[in-house]
Amino acid sequence: MIAFFNGQYLPREEIFVSPDDRGFLFADGLYEVVLCVQGKPFCLQEHIERLERGAVQLHFPVSEFMWLHKVVAELLQKNQLENSDAVVYMQITRGAAPRNHPFPSTETPLTTYVFVRPFDQTPAEEARERGIAAITVADQRWARCDLKTIGLMANILANQQAVEAGVGEAIFVRDGVLLEGSHSNFAGVRNGTLVTFPACHRILDGVTRQQTLAIASSLGIPVALEPVFANDLGSYDEFMVLATTMKVTPIIRLDGRDIGGGVPGEVVRRLQKGFLALEARL
Ligand code: PDD
Repeated sequence: MIAFFNGQYLPREEIFVSPDDRGFLFADGLYEVVLCVQGKPFCLQEHIERLERGAVQLHFPVSEFMWLHKVVAELLQKNQLENSDAVVYMQITRGAAPRNHPFPSTETPLTTYVFVRPFDQTPAEEARERGIAAITVADQRWARCDLKTIGLMANILANQQAVEAGVGEAIFVRDGVLLEGSHSNFAGVRNGTLVTFPACHRILDGVTRQQTLAIASSLGIPVALEPVFANDLGSYDEFMVLATTMKVTPIIRLDGRDIGGGVPGEVVRRLQKGFLALEARL
């Protein structure tokens, strides 16, 4: 596979990152994951915009990344994925410099790595059709979950807990509120209203979340940007996770308890249909 590294297109095995890279030493970097449906990137603009906002928040010396549109198109072409389902991964770190906490000189070039790989949609589609089980876990992350940084230790630990429990996702709970998943956003349906936590420092404002909220509005599904409380789960008919590769995936069991009789609900199905319609327009 050909990947992009610091301005060059190279076979992936020829790419070497400096041991002094601040991504390696400090997790001082940002990333994005983008789904390509039959070679067409879904919401690439929105993903790059989030990367740019993150770069401003982290005080990177450069925060203009619209040129990544071209890199993604080139990589899909160079890897013969122009007509295939694929995933793009983009990572930008503060670059390589002797290990010191303060930012290095603003002359230090950022490290940019972008790769694409084929993506088999079948398992995710099956999960969307059947629904997944999930567990809740304590949120041990930092207080800037709105930034898509590569420092994912708490997410990894939570996700591994889900794997070991034999379920599809772990949902972070803080102060009695179900916030989001280890690699997805989270929403519920109560009396026909889609309920999801408001975008703030406690969650990533997912691109899929934004798209889903827009679909809900266009379908006339009421939306409430409010907490889903752990002690109020009984009043919900449906739960779902929202993320780039999972899209809108129903949760049919949460902490061992069936949700909505253990089958995907009506609202999730409408949102899934809306999502397919969006993709068809790519
Ligand atoms: N994860 N919340 C968290 C913590 C995430 O890691 C993700 C995405 C989302 C959903 O964001 P989006 O809809 O923009 O993909 C929410 C990516 C896919 C990952 O880490 O692989």
